[in-house]
Amino acid sequence: MSSSPRPAILVARAVFPEILELLRQHFEVEDNQADTVFSKQELARRLQGKAGAFTTGGDRVDAEVLAANPQLRIVANMAVGYNNFDIPAFNAAGVWATNTPDVLTESTADFGFALMMATARRMAESEHFLRRGEWTKWAYDMFAGSDVHGSTLGILGMGRIGQAIARRGHHGFGMKVVYHNRSRLPAETEASVGATWVDKATLLAQADHLVLVLPYTPENHHCIAAAEIAQMKPTATLTNIARGGIVDDAALAEALRERRIAAAGLDVFEGEPALNPALLSVPNVVLTPHIASATVATRRAMARLAADNLIAVLGAPGQGGQPLTPLNAGQFTPRA
Ligand code: DGY
Repeated sequence: MSSSPRPAILVARAVFPEILELLRQHFEVEDNQADTVFSKQELARRLQGKAGAFTTGGDRVDAEVLAANPQLRIVANMAVGYNNFDIPAFNAAGVWATNTPDVLTESTADFGFALMMATARRMAESEHFLRRGEWTKWAYDMFAGSDVHGSTLGILGMGRIGQAIARRGHHGFGMKVVYHNRSRLPAETEASVGATWVDKATLLAQADHLVLVLPYTPENHHCIAAAEIAQMKPTATLTNIARGGIVDDAALAEALRERRIAAAGLDVFEGEPALNPALLSVPNVVLTPHIASATVATRRAMARLAADNLIAVLGAPGQGGQPLTPLNAGQFTPRA
């Protein structure tokens, strides 16, 4: 009995071996276990002849990449953020775009909260001091930071992760939680996470600890810059687990150096993995390399969901279904 050829896919970065194994049960797979970071041109070249792609947040897929690959039917991002995708270009080309929501919410919220606490309690700065061998005596004000419990938590962006952080602050740490988001949550959701909507100026002025969890869009570019930092309390902390580009990193580094706010915790950076060198020379910042979702279980779940999206669309010959977590459902006519 002749069977139709299996669709070919590209897995653009290294991934868990068992996920590759699963994908190989359905597809001809070109992998990249050497984990080379492809340029956009190289990605477009490797996608030749592929019906699907498994990408991560650093892989840019736009009109040029899609036009060079008219056989492509789905690009599955192993990330909840999708600012690496040009969604209107996907729609114009008739290609599914998917992401990995929900499975990373709690782990990412854990990390956001941990980074905020590490920032408030000066954990990185004090650890560096200790490692340098400078700890010679106890002192009443040594690395005295600011309290998290009972303080005011400000959240900018209030999707799933923002709500999970609010719950931690309200129920776990007795914090007053204020948030700003384009759309206000329903009253019952606000009550369950213990958060109150305020305008952005009020958020900036009231927050003892401001956490950013909004998606990166052109409108959100530098939505925290010198003018916004100037509205914050000099004792406040700022934590960014959203995306580089939301914060003006140069303005932030200057504000930290001048102690216009107390400290910052940053997991994401403009132009990462490069980062503004000024951030490396200020002590009152905790820096981590974009790892907010990085627990083994969560990264496995993200990879599995991206794989399942590819299988749902390409895996069953003649049954080409909808992906599980589409970004552009109803916005286009899929390529045949
Ligand atoms: C996400 O899922 O968007 C995380 O930032 C990892 O890229």
